[in-house]
Amino acid sequence: MEINLSDLEPRHAHDFLTSSIVPRPIAWVSSINKDGQVNLAPFSFFTGVSWSPPVLAFSVVNRSDGSIKDTVINIREVPEFVVNMVSVDLLPIMEFSARSLPYGTDRHSIKGITWIPATRIKPYRIQESKVSFECTLERIVAVSEGPDAGNLILGRIEIAHIHDELLRNGREVDWLGLDVLGRLSGNRYCAVRSVIESERN
Ligand SMILES: Cc1cc2nc3c(=O)[nH]c(=O)nc-3n(C[C@H](O)[C@H](O)[C@H](O)COP(=O)(O)O)c2cc1C
Repeated sequence: MEINLSDLEPRHAHDFLTSSIVPRPIAWVSSINKDGQVNLAPFSFFTGVSWSPPVLAFSVVNRSDGSIKDTVINIREVPEFVVNMVSVDLLPIMEFSARSLPYGTDRHSIKGITWIPATRIKPYRIQESKVSFECTLERIVAVSEGPDAGNLILGRIEIAHIHDELLRNGREVDWLGLDVLGRLSGNRYCAVRSVIESERN
């Protein structure tokens, strides 16, 4: 069967993509606006892009009424952000932070997380996140305009933070310990519980 995603209603194309590109790690992005108000939101259209220079990317899709999400507004104003990795224990707080709030609502007061200053940039990072990346904006690629169009945000990683006990050989992350949360679709998630080791190495 072939499906032309462009023929589908946008929300159905969303359902197809989010249930076929699985599982996805979650970029929990903290940003600030020019008045210093803090924002935090999760984005699972997220991946690494380059390691030299170190660059990651996530995509913020415009709301279906065409409005731009606060994360994009903030990063246009203050071109810096922290990508906090989400582990399984952080699921409820991460989901809570996805609620759409009036622009400028400060998310500093979200319960269950501890904000700590970043070392290179203005936005704060989350202490409970086992790995986090302080990024400066490399560029925003707007794939189109209007409702449901994506804004790919590329961030250059200025410094990474990791909980000490998870670092191996000074450079590798113990991903079992990281216990990363994987997004499936809707309210379904997964964890790394079944590891397949290939013969190759
Ligand atoms: C697990 C999870 C993953 C999400 N992934 C995305 C995504 O990749 N892109 C996107 O635009 N919205 C995504 N959302 C929805 C945003 O988090 C939501 O629209 C949020 O209100 C945006 O916040 P902001 O306006 O403060 O930027 C996701 C939500 C959840 C719970």
